[in-house]
Amino acid sequence: MTPPGSPAPSPPGWPLAGHAPAFRRDPLGFLRSAANSGPVVRLRLGPFVYHLVTDPALVREVLQARAANYARDGRSARQMRLVTGESLLSTEGDTWRRHRRLAQPVFHSQRLAGLAATTVAACTETIDRWSDAARKGRTLDLVAELSRLTFTIAGRSLFGADLGPHAGAVEQAYPVLVDELFRRSRALAALPAWVPTPGHRRFHRALAAIDAIVAELIAGRRRAPAGRDDLLDALLQARDEDGSALSDAEIRNHAVTFLLAGHETTASTLVWTLALLDQNRPELDPVEAELDTVLAGRIPTLADLPRLTRLDAALQESLRLFPAIWLAERRVLETDTLGGCTIPGDSGLVVSAYVTQRLAAHWPDPDTFRPARFSGRTPPGLAEGFLPFGAGPHQCIGQHFALLEARLALATLLSRFRIHLAGEFPAPLAGITLRPAATVPVRIELR
Ligand code: HEM
Repeated sequence: MTPPGSPAPSPPGWPLAGHAPAFRRDPLGFLRSAANSGPVVRLRLGPFVYHLVTDPALVREVLQARAANYARDGRSARQMRLVTGESLLSTEGDTWRRHRRLAQPVFHSQRLAGLAATTVAACTETIDRWSDAARKGRTLDLVAELSRLTFTIAGRSLFGADLGPHAGAVEQAYPVLVDELFRRSRALAALPAWVPTPGHRRFHRALAAIDAIVAELIAGRRRAPAGRDDLLDALLQARDEDGSALSDAEIRNHAVTFLLAGHETTASTLVWTLALLDQNRPELDPVEAELDTVLAGRIPTLADLPRLTRLDAALQESLRLFPAIWLAERRVLETDTLGGCTIPGDSGLVVSAYVTQRLAAHWPDPDTFRPARFSGRTPPGLAEGFLPFGAGPHQCIGQHFALLEARLALATLLSRFRIHLAGEFPAPLAGITLRPAATVPVRIELR
């Protein structure tokens, strides 16, 4: 037991680079093994000191109880600002509170019925494409397929039909932004984005393309406020307590944020769930049986979801093993003590859902896919070490949106198809999201 106020234990590292080489080589493996040193571990990434906090009770202190001392505007939020400007993902304090207040109603539960309809319509297009691939025995890349699906759903939920003609351009530009954010997040000292390297030029071209399209969509809606039931409309209608509305620049930042935060996260979650179910046939059988009983061949609706408990347990277990947002960074404002260890002010701190959700003390046999952990009980929360959507003031604003979309998409696809991995189980890449490191070829079989 560490005496109060002593430095946290630290795994062996290099004199100058500290733990940076090990972290860069294998971030997930390194953080998991570092967590063996204690519930609070001191890491040195080059010149930066970060504490990794893994114990659920201490994670709760950081994200919830003492959230005011753990600001979200660390290095990764500053990088995020390059893409999203001042946004929910990149600010803290009063600016963040105003954004959160204005954006919250956009995700109101009454809007979820519209989202369900959008999801099912987009899934129907996927059904057509997959049926064709199944008949022709063609292999598909699950990552590309599900990214396209979630991008279509996010785009239509935000902009309704208006995005249609621009969807291809935006879909192509986004990965360029995500790749640059990922590259910068791994570099200890990234060049300023204005330095005209080829990569930066590509990044600025992609950002300009998205900005031009989003500006056109906002201007079009201002000219003809059609009263549509999409997120753009909700952002245009949003009013602060003093009656002020969001500016065009703020609406642009929200729109770019929702597309960024909302599509790769859900796509990766779907890929992991389908891959895990294919590799664990005894877990897939009851899910298929449940779908056959509840849907009897129909396309699912919102009303079917409460009865799809096996499917939901598989989804939650997949979010436990592969949480799309695997790392959350905070900046420590004032020196604090956590678990008896001193956490110096003005240092960094990280919480990893990936590591906490695989702690053997809380999750017996932690690496095994076992949906029964989530069956027939109130869903576990932070106290049990389950935090795929974070916790506290910065908890995911799109959580209900994401869960609804994932459940409906899985129900639609699994009730029609068997999806078989054509190769090995995908290796994870801890990028901006936790996603497969390479393409995931699958064979599709009609059920
Ligand atoms: C399976 C899908 C998703 C997962 C696993 C996920 C996870 C998370 C997590 C863990 C956080 C907290 C990060 C932190 O504490 O620093 C977060 C925040 C956020 N998420 Fe999600 N998310 C998902 C889908 C979505 C969707 C669909 C949207 C929007 C359409 C969205 C928008 C956001 C935003 C704006 C924030 C920042 C909230 C704030 O700081 O006030 N996410 N998400």
